[in-house]
Amino acid sequence: MACGFRRSIACQLSRVLDLPPENLIKSISAVPISRKEEVADFQLSVDSLLENNNDHSRPDIQVQATRLAEKLKCDTVVSEISTGRGTVNFKINRELLTKTVLQQVINDGSKYGLKSELFSGLPQKKIVVEFSSPNVAKKFHVGHLRSTIIGNFIANLEEALGHHVTRINYLGDWGMQFGKNFKHPVSSIMMPFPRRAVLLCLLGLLGTGFQLFGYEEKLQSNPLQHLFEVYVQVNKEAADDKNIAKSAHEFFQRLELGDTQALALWQKFRDLSVEEYMRIYKRLGVHFDEYSGESFYREKSQEVLKLLDSKGLLQKTVRGTAIVDLSGNGDPSSICTVMRSDGTSLYATRDLAAAIDRMDKYNFDAMIYVTDKGQKKHFQQVFQMLQIMGYDWAERCQHVPFGVVQGMKTRRGNVTFLEDVLNEIRSRMLQNMASIKTTRELENPQETAERVGLAALIIQDFRGLLLSDYQFSWDRVFQSRGDTGVFLQYTHARLHSLEETFGCGYLNDFNSACLQEPQSVSILQHLLRFDEVLYRSSQDLQPRHIVSYLLTLSHLAAVAHKTLLIKDSPPEVAGARLHLFRAVRSVLANGMKLLGIIPVCRM
Ligand code: ARG
Repeated sequence: MACGFRRSIACQLSRVLDLPPENLIKSISAVPISRKEEVADFQLSVDSLLENNNDHSRPDIQVQATRLAEKLKCDTVVSEISTGRGTVNFKINRELLTKTVLQQVINDGSKYGLKSELFSGLPQKKIVVEFSSPNVAKKFHVGHLRSTIIGNFIANLEEALGHHVTRINYLGDWGMQFGKNFKHPVSSIMMPFPRRAVLLCLLGLLGTGFQLFGYEEKLQSNPLQHLFEVYVQVNKEAADDKNIAKSAHEFFQRLELGDTQALALWQKFRDLSVEEYMRIYKRLGVHFDEYSGESFYREKSQEVLKLLDSKGLLQKTVRGTAIVDLSGNGDPSSICTVMRSDGTSLYATRDLAAAIDRMDKYNFDAMIYVTDKGQKKHFQQVFQMLQIMGYDWAERCQHVPFGVVQGMKTRRGNVTFLEDVLNEIRSRMLQNMASIKTTRELENPQETAERVGLAALIIQDFRGLLLSDYQFSWDRVFQSRGDTGVFLQYTHARLHSLEETFGCGYLNDFNSACLQEPQSVSILQHLLRFDEVLYRSSQDLQPRHIVSYLLTLSHLAAVAHKTLLIKDSPPEVAGARLHLFRAVRSVLANGMKLLGIIPVCRM
């Protein structure tokens, strides 16, 4: 077992150091191939051992490493022991390495790396991941796209680790649209708002707007686009025409009073929007267990306000609004408005209600919110409020923030709908593929183009720290050379065709002695590290570890593909090499799927 090596080294160390092997396992890591000193496969960092020991005297670690190495002996697993800078290095018996890694990759299939001892003793948790969360009748912007792919990755990873994951899409389907900071829905230009600022809710405006400018057929055939158009128009008109504001307000009141017709119209908007979203998410390979939304928490927000009040946490202001004072939590200026002067709730109030509701419903061990970093303070405040309300589980809530992407434009202009982005990806990729000479007759070129294009987009997005901003460039996304998603897909397709060409004949057994060239050993050493990479991503929820791992794997595969020929090799050698390539493809596919990429078999 790849991970068994680590345990076996830990057992030997444990005897010498008189520490339980469990405490040692995480100090032993596979040496990254770019930094391989000599040919060691694993290294023990003496520094991290001393940390474990709480030994503050810190004797010279080099001396410690040498002393430790002298006490250790080679055995059937470890064939060589040496020291590096502050490390003890272990080389694994070559044939054992080959056999064990390949067998394990093939036997564990999609679970390869996840059964490692790095994850042993990991309790199975209930995890809620909230992501995507676009706003009804408004732009789906790049931030929503990032939230969608990042949230999907996190959910995939947690699920792979054996946790029970609930994926929630929390739609922005409620909210006041006229206020001090009202932004025009199309541009980010501030709208001149009426002098006597009237608070109009999204539902009121849409309801009125639809009665004035809506078309039933357009709503049915293209709900997201049509609701957006209606919304833009009604906003424009409402700025000059007081009657519109008035009728929007009336529509909203009808909703409040439970008018069945008004409610039915709203329900229809929502249902049709969700239906269309589901269709588009499917193209992305993303699904949700629950489509929730702000509108669900109108009444529950009122209960939250009462609860805050009963706990003495609600403070009325002279303006008639109500706030929660959070200055005791480090930031003396931190307050959060939770009620408007007319008694209605705000975004933060609804988030409190939603969190409490989800705790009731799912009893989660962790809840992860994925949004851009602009909402960092918002979530900080929501979590702090939950905490002071007495909900200890507030510490199980986590915000995963990401940076801003600039300059993503489609041929039609700025991104307004998710579907525009997907269509743009597909058409650009189709064009690119037409110029790739290896592109064979594809059964479904549209689908392949979309999958390759999405891989490209995801890799570009996941390469850096999630929190970093970046400038978007279609050219960079689609480069077929270099570290792109196109390269990963290309590698996967190539390995797949290798298997197709040479097929099963060779695969039943293999002779590990045939895989001792440096190119093979590098690949095996790299495969050995997959569990550590998964572990790192599971710790910081950053996909970049997996991305760079897969890119390196693909580069290694490209070199091996040129040098480790199959055709014209003796059957024994060919069989062993096919085995190796098959293992590479399997791990490549596993990693890609975790990232939310559907590997293609041809392109
Ligand atoms: N709909 C919000 C937006 O577009 C994102 C919602 C994030 N989730 C939350 N629970 N507040 O900005």
